[in-house]
Amino acid sequence: MAAKSTILVTGATGNVGRQVVSQLLAGHAGEVRALTRNPAAAGLPDGVDVRQGDLADPAALEAALGGADSVFLMWPFHDADPAATVVDAIDRHAGRVVFLSSGAVQDGLAPEQQPHPVGRSHARVERLIARSGLRWTFVRPSTFAANTLWFADQIRAGNVVQGAYGAVRMALLHEADIAAVAVRALTEDGHDEAAYGLTGPEVLTQAQQVRIIGEVLGRPIRWQELSREEARQRLLADDNFPDFFVEPLLDGYADMLSAPPTRLTSTVEAVTAAPACTYRDWVADHAADFR
Ligand SMILES: NC(=O)c1ccc[n+]([C@@H]2O[C@H](COP(=O)([O-])OP(=O)(O)OC[C@H]3O[C@@H](n4cnc5c(N)ncnc54)[C@H](OP(=O)(O)O)[C@@H]3O)[C@@H](O)[C@H]2O)c1
Repeated sequence: MAAKSTILVTGATGNVGRQVVSQLLAGHAGEVRALTRNPAAAGLPDGVDVRQGDLADPAALEAALGGADSVFLMWPFHDADPAATVVDAIDRHAGRVVFLSSGAVQDGLAPEQQPHPVGRSHARVERLIARSGLRWTFVRPSTFAANTLWFADQIRAGNVVQGAYGAVRMALLHEADIAAVAVRALTEDGHDEAAYGLTGPEVLTQAQQVRIIGEVLGRPIRWQELSREEARQRLLADDNFPDFFVEPLLDGYADMLSAPPTRLTSTVEAVTAAPACTYRDWVADHAADFR
């Protein structure tokens, strides 16, 4: 890995950020710093310099950025407007940013033209970064395998997962692979102005995902198709699922059903020299979450 430097990881308690922190601790010679709103609850490993801060609070962010050379930026908001202040602050302190963007961003379209709301907000953050003086890399993952933790309550309670759009096909990514790409971009040269479109190595329907979870757990689990309205009501009643995300999720699935087939990329392997994990690998790593 590259020379000693200080790397600030935002979203450090999230699916990807937590992996970025642990992979940096394992291989990066410099200082690893993590931003969280609640250090006491963060459960971050020894060896990381945990800083309290909120991406919506520029003063706290400035303090966490002091002396940082590179930043892993994840954007937790649907509104991209506050990102202007955040990108400015990063630009004033650090030289490089690696942004956890989204595969929903379509190349060649301005942010306003992006068809998907997630693509629109991430494209706006990308544009702010590209117009800054920072060296940058955009990591644009397809769907996270971790989203299927949404099935966990139903799987713990029985052998059926109910949902809508079971035929939707996804190229699910292990968060460790997304992080591995980000860590390369944070610690090596050669990733400037790259927008890495990442996918997992296979395309699976939701019904197939559920079957694989059952195979790993050692009991048959099946998908039961609901109408969109039934799924909407189910998700709204689920305390673990954010209400604001119910319609965007169902809209996203509806779009995916009619979209052209997902094009798999080999970018994880090209950047990290290791093939992307399969969904079965991911389930095996997370089996305890479904038991
Ligand atoms: N899920 C997908 O399929 C998918 C696909 C492509 C792209 N993405 C993008 O990936 C990102 C989500 O990544 P993830 O799944 O790793 O995150 P996550 O598990 O949802 O975790 C959210 C993180 O955001 C932090 N956070 C929330 N509000 C914050 C605030 N006001 N200030 C500072 N930090 C804040 C939380 O930190 P604390 O609570 O510790 O402060 C936590 O670390 C989103 O931008 C999403 O659009 C997701």
